[in-house]
Amino acid sequence: MQLKPLSKYALKCPRCGYEVEPSPYIMRCPRCGELLDALLIAEKIKIRWGELRGRGVWRYRDLLPEFKNVVTMGEGSTPLIRLRAYPNAYVKFEGANPTGSFKDRGMTVGVSLASSLRVRGVIVASTGNTAASAAAYSARAGIDCMVVLPKGGVAKGKLGQAILHGARIVEVPGTFDNALEYVLSTVLESGSAGNASYYPLNSINQWRLEGQKTIAYEIVEEGGVPDYVFVPVGNGGNIYAIWKGFRELMELNIIDKMPKMIGVQASGAAPLVKYWRGLGEAKVDKPSTVASAIRIGKPVNWFRAYRAVKYSGGTFIDVSDDEILAAQRILGKEGIGVEPASAASLAGYLKALNSGLINVKDKVVLIATGHALKDPDTLLLSSDNNAISISSINELKALIINGNVKIKY
Ligand code: F0G
Repeated sequence: MQLKPLSKYALKCPRCGYEVEPSPYIMRCPRCGELLDALLIAEKIKIRWGELRGRGVWRYRDLLPEFKNVVTMGEGSTPLIRLRAYPNAYVKFEGANPTGSFKDRGMTVGVSLASSLRVRGVIVASTGNTAASAAAYSARAGIDCMVVLPKGGVAKGKLGQAILHGARIVEVPGTFDNALEYVLSTVLESGSAGNASYYPLNSINQWRLEGQKTIAYEIVEEGGVPDYVFVPVGNGGNIYAIWKGFRELMELNIIDKMPKMIGVQASGAAPLVKYWRGLGEAKVDKPSTVASAIRIGKPVNWFRAYRAVKYSGGTFIDVSDDEILAAQRILGKEGIGVEPASAASLAGYLKALNSGLINVKDKVVLIATGHALKDPDTLLLSSDNNAISISSINELKALIINGNVKIKY
């Protein structure tokens, strides 16, 4: 049975070309096991790019699965902010989404799909943001949510959100890679989630990624096609989704060039950089970085991310934790608060500028994937934390008069 919301898609294996009937439950190729591409069928698409209506993700409903009941909280339509320090660089601030990360774009589609099926709820493994978003959207939809987290590996803000929205929280030993293995081996045996009462919404789920591709659509509508897009890479789903968004607009003759996709990983968790350089499989054993959101050693979407970068003519680069934290502070000084993983895109941009890979005149978009408040602990440890304690009004007066406090009129 073909589900109506998916009827404008073909489901095709990017490795062996095998095609399957679009289904919410089939994510891997039954023949070779690769993750399937959800491809829009051009003849079934009627879109007038200049006449789009509404805002956010569902402004692009003609290019998305369509549901009778959409679970939405106005996600998308995030600001594109020009940097003062680098006027050709624009930050796409995904922290402005309802739960503070780009995951909401995926969850509005994923949870709408899940709630159109007869499942009890959704399940995700997560470094935190996916959990927060799945929890909130499931709460909105009135279905259960189970989140499987690496014990001790999730930033406080995200864990707090999952608790707030009433998710069932399951902590497992090890890293995110272990958590994902728990989930996939439980609900996605042989690539199909057919019998599961909990619908898996990790980024292996091609329908969830459809929501995330709208980042590309918004960039095009607001500023045209940039030369480069820098994306922090963990599991690799988002960079693929954004690239797919641009590619669809090419195929629909809405744009006439592609941006180069630059995948940025933290040096201690950089399996795709390793693979890109020909140094073995896209796997590292003990991923380690301050950027807990992208502390991932076995990116399940590695082939998707690799294709996005390769076909766009981009590259993968890695940045150290110090570079990430320095970039987070630079953005902070511009008034833009991002979590460490999100600062990886600016860190990557600065590295690419310094190494001559790109020119300061190139137009770039830096995807700032999550809000600073997600990870308060890292903010408080910052070397810029200059908090002092006083206990009298006179001490505050002295501080102001001594000029230690900048007051602008
Ligand atoms: N930035 C942030 C803030 C993230 O939370 C993630 C992924 C990424 C970047 C990387 O995106 O995995 O599509 O390459 N977070 C997932 C989670 C793993 O569970 O929240 P990706």
